[in-house]
This record gives sequence, structure tokens and C-alpha cells, in this order.
Amino acid sequence: MKPHVVITHPIHSEVIENELKPHARVTLARNRIELLSALRDADGLITLLSDPVNEEILSKAPRLKAVANYAVGINNIDLEACRKRGIRVTNTPKVLTRATAELNLALLLAAARRVPEGETLCRSGQFKGWAPDMLLGLELKGRRAVLVGKGRIGQETARLFQGIGLKVSWITRKDTEKTVRKKLAGAQVLSLHVPLTPETRHWLNAERLSCLPRDSIVLNTTRGPVVDEKALIECLRARRIFAAGLDVFENEPHIPPALRELPNVVLLPHLGSATEETRRAMARLAVSGVLGLLGGKRPWNEVKSKASHG
Ligand code: NAP
Ligand code: GLV
Ligand code: GLV
Repeated sequence: MKPHVVITHPIHSEVIENELKPHARVTLARNRIELLSALRDADGLITLLSDPVNEEILSKAPRLKAVANYAVGINNIDLEACRKRGIRVTNTPKVLTRATAELNLALLLAAARRVPEGETLCRSGQFKGWAPDMLLGLELKGRRAVLVGKGRIGQETARLFQGIGLKVSWITRKDTEKTVRKKLAGAQVLSLHVPLTPETRHWLNAERLSCLPRDSIVLNTTRGPVVDEKALIECLRARRIFAAGLDVFENEPHIPPALRELPNVVLLPHLGSATEETRRAMARLAVSGVLGLLGGKRPWNEVKSKASHG
């Protein structure tokens, strides 16, 4: 008998048709009611980063053995609850590293050169001709960038930043608070690449924001709650830093009106991994992950249980 795999979204239809359906009975659960019903006899589950996988969900899934998260970030999954029930988990590392780093670079260039303000000027019909003092931005070559989280995306971002002449240094978990603040004081670009865990929630808080230089650009492509959004809004409004580039938000998909009104922020709707190539590869990895786990194999992208992931 084929295992029963529940998907919360059709993801890549060709991959589902050709790579999942030959090996599994597939149910698409479009909403919470359909999900809870389908989970009653589900063996595997493919989830999006916006689907919580917690005690409440797992208690409705007595047969569940495998969860494949269609994302590298796993903060939506209670790993400890899964471990207790013998449920194994995979994610989608590596295939999205380059796409996310490239988007981070796009945010940096857009923030430094005030691209959204220039675009708005053009689209609104307000562009009245070239002017020496119009929308002056910052040149990036030679500036100091500080990256937080020396993982896959952090390191790929560092290579791209170095390619345009930025000087890169790191903040890691070994740094003391004093060292962190000293490094922040020199961060003309601050780029966040840590996963969301209990330790990294509000990593960039009001105190740390106040250490940044006035010409600083803050970039967040990781998870919204890594930044204290209210404190960042205050900082941008008072022009205590130059700009921010954000792909993620604290209460996604809600973006506070106060943030949307600011001219000195670039806003994107969580597009880090959104390229044709990457999304296809993520779908294949989620499918091979769930089938691998259900077949008793050890997929390379299995997430190891770690108490620190919240
Ligand atoms: P990764 O390779 O695991 O890198 C994360 C790095 O952060 C690791 O080096 C980790 O160190 C470090 N870290 C963890 N907690 C820390 C702390 N408290 N202080 C300092 N460093 C810490 O993961 P990745 O593939 O680069 O992905 C990073 C995150 O990006 C994901 O978790 C996800 O949330 C986000 N993401 C967003 C998008 C998007 O669409 N915007 C796309 C992809 C990923 P250890 O190994 O020592 O824990
Ligand atoms: C996207 O945000 C991911 O974690 O893959
Ligand atoms: C700008 O367009 C220039 O030609 O300097």
C-alpha cells in the first residue's frame, strides 16, 4: 500500500505529479479543517514555512512519521514534539542559498541607491528632469559590512558583498555583548543571517540599533522576529540610520502601516528563495525528503533535533 502524504499547498505541480504521486496517495489540504481531517490517517506531511507543526497539530496525526518543510528555516516546527512522537523532519537547505544571497544583495543596492523612492517618483509622474541633488544615496565600495550568522546564506552573501568591494566581518555567538556593540558601531551595512530561535528573537533590539552609525543600512532576509520591528521603525523614522532592506516581517504577512509609510526602507514580500530554479529544487527536495523518511532511509537533508530551535 502506498503511504498517505498530505500537502498544504500544491507547490510545484509537475514535481508532485511526477515524483510524489507515483509513490504516495496525495491529499491537498487547503485549510485548517481539511488539514486536521487529512492528518487522521497521514503518514507524511509537506509543509510551508507558514504552517505551524506543533503539539496541537501532531495530536491529530496518530500515524504521522515524516514532515518535510518546504523551507530551510524550521522555526515553524516544534522539533522536540516531533522527536517525542518519533516523527522525523527534513528541510530544504543549500538549494536556496544563492537565491537568498542574491536577493539580499538586491535589497542592499536598492536601499543604498534609494531605488524605491526613485521608482515612485517615475511612476507618479513627478520626475521633472535630472538634478544634481536628487535622491543622493551611498556608494558601497570600501564600506564595512558586518554579517550576523556565518552559515550557508551568510557566507554566500559575504562573497557577493566582497564582489562589489565591501569589507566583510562577522558577529558570531562567541562574541561578548561588549564586542557585539563595538562591531555594530562600525557596521555601515548590518546583514542578518541567523535562524529564528529563542536566543535570536529580537537579536537586533533598540539598544543594539542605537550602536549603529548614522550611515548604516540594516538588511533582514532571515526571519522577521530576529529584529524588534517597532524599534527599527523608530530608528528609521528618526533617521538614526540611513535605511533598511526587509524581506521578512515580525507578524508576517502583516506589515505595520508605520513601516509602509517610511521612504527609507525597501520592502519585499518574503521573496528570498523565489526563483524558478530554486522553487523547483525545493519541491524536489521536500518530496525526496518525505519519501526517503517513509522508506526508512536517511535523507541528507534530515534536520537533527536540537533543543535550541524554537
Ligand atoms: P545555516 O547554514 O544553518 O546558517 C545559520 C547560521 O547562524 C549558522 O552558522 C548558525 O551557527 C548561526 N547562528 C545560530 N544561532 C546563532 C546565534 N544566536 N548567534 C550567532 N550565530 C548564530 O542556515 P542558512 O541556510 O544560512 O539559513 C539561515 C536562515 O535564513 C534560515 O534559518 C531562514 O530563517 C532564513 N531564510 C530566509 C529566506 C527568505 O526567503 N528570506 C530564504 C532562506 C532562508 P550554528 O551552526 O553554530 O548554530
Ligand atoms: C525561507 O524563508 C526559508 O526558510 O526557506
Ligand atoms: C549622468 O547621467 C552623466 O552622464 O553624468
